[in-house]
This record gives sequence, C-alpha cells and structure tokens, in this order.
Amino acid sequence: MQIQNNISLKAFNTFGIDVKATHFVSINSIDDLITIYTSEKFPKKFILGGGSNMLLTKDVDALVIHVNLKGKHILSQTETEVLIEAQAGENWHEFVLWSLENDFGGLENLSLIPGNVGTSPIQNIGAYGVELKDTFHSCKALNLDTLEIETFTKEDCNFAYRNSIFKQHAKGQFIITSVIFKLSKVNHKLNINYGAITSEIERMNINQPTIQDVSKAVISIRQSKLPNPKEIGNSGSFFKNPVITKKAFSKLQDNFPNAPHYVVSETEIKIPAGWLIEHAGFKGKTFGNYGVHKKQALVLVNYGGAKGKEILELSKLIQDTVFRIFDIQIEAEVNII
Ligand code: FAD
Ligand code: EPU
Repeated sequence: MQIQNNISLKAFNTFGIDVKATHFVSINSIDDLITIYTSEKFPKKFILGGGSNMLLTKDVDALVIHVNLKGKHILSQTETEVLIEAQAGENWHEFVLWSLENDFGGLENLSLIPGNVGTSPIQNIGAYGVELKDTFHSCKALNLDTLEIETFTKEDCNFAYRNSIFKQHAKGQFIITSVIFKLSKVNHKLNINYGAITSEIERMNINQPTIQDVSKAVISIRQSKLPNPKEIGNSGSFFKNPVITKKAFSKLQDNFPNAPHYVVSETEIKIPAGWLIEHAGFKGKTFGNYGVHKKQALVLVNYGGAKGKEILELSKLIQDTVFRIFDIQIEAEVNII
C-alpha cells in the first residue's frame, strides 16, 4: 500500500477536472482499508470509485481512497439462476460484458455505464427501463465505525430512482466492498419495451433478440447521444429527472401542452430534465471551454481545462432559469465535491 502526496485527480474523474489530492492511496484489500481506518494519521478521508459521478470543485484536502478491490466469482447456482459476487473495484461495463459472455441475463440494459461495481448500488444506477435493484441480491460494506463487514439485502438498501440508503442516512458511514447479483441462466427476460431499444433492434434487423443483442442495441444508442468521457469530459446526466405532483403537471401543461412526461404513480409525474433544459435555451451552448452537450441537454461537458467551479456555476444558472420558466426545481444527480 503506497500513499502518494499532492497528486492530480485529473485522470481519476470523468469530468477531467484538474484538482489535487493532498494524499492518495489505491486499496487492493479489505485489510488495507481497515489498516487505514485504524490509523490516526489521516483524519480526513474521501472515497473514490471510477470518478464518473462527481464534480470536483476544489482540491481534495484529505486522503483519497481509491477503491480498487478486484475479483468476481460464482457463489452458487441452480439450473435457472446464478449468484455472482463482484468486488467493488471491478469496472461496471467490463463486468456486464463478462456476464454476457457467460450468457447470464439481467445486466444487458445497463451496458456502457461508466464507474465501478461497488458504486452501482449507491444511486441504484439505471438505464433503458432497468435499474440495478432488478438484479441486486445484496452487498457487503465496511462499517466505518465498527470496522466490521455488514451485509445489506435489497430491502435494507431502500432503493428508489437514483437513490438508496447509501445516499440517505447511511451516507458516509460505509464503504461498499462487493455486490452480489442474481442473474438468469435460461429463459432470459428481455426488457425491450423502451422505445429506443425496439427501434434500434429493428434497425439491426434482428427478429429474435438475445441478451447480447440488447446490450449491442443499448451501446449503440448510448454512443449516438452521450459523449465518451475519454474524448469530452462529463459525468453523464448532471441532474435527476424531476418528479412532480399531478397538480403541478397540469399547471405545466397549461403553458406547455407538449411537455413530455412519464406517469410514476397515481399522484406523480416524471418530466425529462433534458427537455426542460433544452427549452430553457441551453442545449449545445458553450461558455469558453465548457457547456451543455449538443446532443443531450442533461449532460454538462468540459471541453478541456474547465474548472469545477465554472461548471457548478453553469449548473446553478440552469437550475435558476428552469425554475423561473417552468416553476420546477431540478436537483443535481452528480455529487458536488
Ligand atoms: P464515483 O464517481 O467514484 O463515486 C460516486 C460517489 O460514491 C462519491 O460520493 C464517492 O465518494 C462514493 N463512493 C464511490 N465508491 C464507493 C464505495 N465503494 N463505497 C461507498 N461510497 C463510494 N448513471 C446511471 O445511473 N445511469 C446511466 O445511464 C449513466 N450514464 C452515464 C454516462 C456517462 C457518460 C457518465 C460519465 C456517467 C453516467 N452515469 C450513469 C453516472 C455514473 O456512471 C454512475 O453513477 C456510477 O455508478 C458512478 O460510479 P463511480 O465508481 O464512477 O462513482
Ligand atoms: N430530451 C430533450 N432534449 C434533450 C434530451 C432529452 O427534449 O436534449 C427529452 C426527450 O423527450 C427524450 C427524453 O428527454 O425523449 C428522455 O431522454 P433520454 O432517453 O436521453 O433519457 P434521459 O431522461 O435524458 C435518463 C437517465 C440516463 C439514462 C437514460 C436512458 C436520468 C437523470 N438520466 O436520461 O442516465 O441513461 O435515461 O435510460 O435519469 C445518468 O444517470 O447519468 C444517465 C445518463
């Protein structure tokens, strides 16, 4: 375990923001994690996974702990299902591809999401009609008070849209060390009702899609509208899609009868924040070396050399403008550090 001092975090966050960490350590074992938390040498600590859901607005005056626990294995299986444990530092998309190579079903719609396996439960990652909770069995996490490993079942995690216990009252108290998934081995249930997937599969000329085809379709859709962080710095959707009451929605419809929306429950409606931001005039706007992506208004981008504070200011301008026009408050999805 090697502790480095005063290092740039530019390569460790997909926004590509160049801030420094006072100290940095990459962790390969739970024992090393416990050693760090037992020592009093570094009172301030900051946990880093793949750095794909954060905006760094200042230097990180702490020991940055890069969770790099590796490995995956089958815990048990029946004729129809398999339980797989993957360590927190495994790359999410590589894990999805590995599951598909083994013909294990359930993760295909979540292809090409950046970040690590260990972070996936924190905001209950989701895309194209599927959320992590749909295949999540449990996870293990180090309790930072007791330094014991605890297991969280699906019920414990309190999953919701871009939310879990790890963003609520357990925030900052645990480091997730591994996640256990329940995947199908036969009779895979395909989730292809999401409009864009259906049309992409048709375009691919496939009549009886497999889970591997669904993954390819999802990858193709994502590549067509989301910027690749290796080319343009970004953190995916900067804001969550707001969920408003039916009453607020009918007020919105009075002024914007064509506003797209999804019914969430009898009393709630979800509005795509990308539509609100586009109709507030921000889509494709650039402010020097940062701005709003031209193909997806929900994605803020760093064209190179932008400061986290500048992107934060832009996000506030967007929030204020959307609120002024639509009377809807949009909340950041990205963790602002
Ligand atoms: P990080 O950014 O490293 O960390 C996020 C937060 O979790 C931080 O607060 C960090 O301190 C904490 N943390 C990290 N690891 C641990 C751990 N092991 N234990 C406890 N706390 C920890 N998300 C979606 O849901 N759906 C999408 O479709 C999607 N598309 C994206 C597309 C792009 C191009 C990008 C850049 C991002 C996208 N995201 C999407 C967001 C992001 O990929 C996910 O939120 C991902 O789960 C973040 O993982 P990470 O390891 O990079 O987290
Ligand atoms: N829209 C616009 N203009 C835009 C972008 C979107 O009008 O510039 C409207 C359109 O009506 C479109 C609708 O928004 O039909 C939905 O757009 P899209 O399918 O691109 O999805 P999204 O709601 O913008 C969400 C997630 C993504 C996830 C996709 C696919 C959130 C905050 N974002 O985006 O997750 O990949 O759906 O399921 O829920 C992420 O969390 O980082 C992320 C990328």
